[in-house]
Amino acid sequence: MHYENVVDLKVTQVDQSRIDQVDFDNLMFGKTCSDHMMICDYEDGEWKTPEIIPYGPMLMEPSAKVFHYGQAVFEGMKSYKDGDGKVWLFRPQQNFERINTSAKRMAIPEFPKEYFFSALEKLLNLDYEWIKPGIGNSLYLRPFVIATENGVSASPSNKYRFMIITAPAKAYYEGSVKVIFAEEYSRSADGGVGFAKAAGNYGAQFYPTNLAKAEGFDQIIWTDADTHEYLEEAGTMNIFFRIGDSLVTAPTNDRILDGVTRKSIIALAEEKGIDVQVRRVSVKEIKDAARAGELKEIFGAGTAAVVVPVSAFRHGGEDFELPQLENSYAKQLKANLLDIQYNRAEDPFGWRYEV
Ligand code: COI
Repeated sequence: MHYENVVDLKVTQVDQSRIDQVDFDNLMFGKTCSDHMMICDYEDGEWKTPEIIPYGPMLMEPSAKVFHYGQAVFEGMKSYKDGDGKVWLFRPQQNFERINTSAKRMAIPEFPKEYFFSALEKLLNLDYEWIKPGIGNSLYLRPFVIATENGVSASPSNKYRFMIITAPAKAYYEGSVKVIFAEEYSRSADGGVGFAKAAGNYGAQFYPTNLAKAEGFDQIIWTDADTHEYLEEAGTMNIFFRIGDSLVTAPTNDRILDGVTRKSIIALAEEKGIDVQVRRVSVKEIKDAARAGELKEIFGAGTAAVVVPVSAFRHGGEDFELPQLENSYAKQLKANLLDIQYNRAEDPFGWRYEV
């Protein structure tokens, strides 16, 4: 599939690319940005024409509302290069829709589709060399919107800036992760902004995640804020449990991000004939299944993370280890997903988008 109504954007190219200074084998996720970025301002009730300009610092007043009230939303996407040098996006329409869903919840005006797709195409064409071929290599795209109006009155901004920056990336996590099931802190609550990719959802996790890290864990699997009995998501990824041969994941709701990788994994698993159950999954069920030897796998799924196995979890002072399966669902589904993303297999779902 391809978006047809691409519009012309104003482009100012860098005089000199920085690409030669980048060590593509040793990248820290999101640390090194490519040469160009997209910038588009909202003023007087409308989005102005976006521009592509060299990546670099920008000037903002300290009273800009984003600094005070966190009116900010973002997306995470990746572009991939296949063996023939063609560049692909994965389900970009989903990211476009979700950033506007997130924006609406944060009282931010929705962004036009033709600007979003035109900017992606222009950026990826300009920074083509920053997308390295080979499974695992990608150019991560970070679209985001911030409130730029000056003045610290607690009200929605009248001015916004939509930007897209990009950064070459490999997988977010190396190998597997160890997690703690949340017992005290919560990520989100009913009626809140958990479903949105609102910046504050991520910032609010840093403190409890630091506590988990101090105990030797990588991530927290968040539980429902009311009872802490039901497992929801990990904050940087949605979570799947393999109990016996069934794959279980929590339904999306007010509190859980509607992950693009999550829904792709569900579709791929169903296509393989795996019994997929989208339903509430309790801590008790998972601990009982682990004790009975029925819990075969836990894994996370997200754009940055791709598919990451969980090797161990802690809850209620008890530690559990997951078996390391040779032919795990995580491995199989990750391979299926990557084959589609890197144009190495048929795409029966129509997910790939050629740039
Ligand atoms: C992504 O997977 O793209 C995300 O936005 C998660 C982020 C915290 C790295």
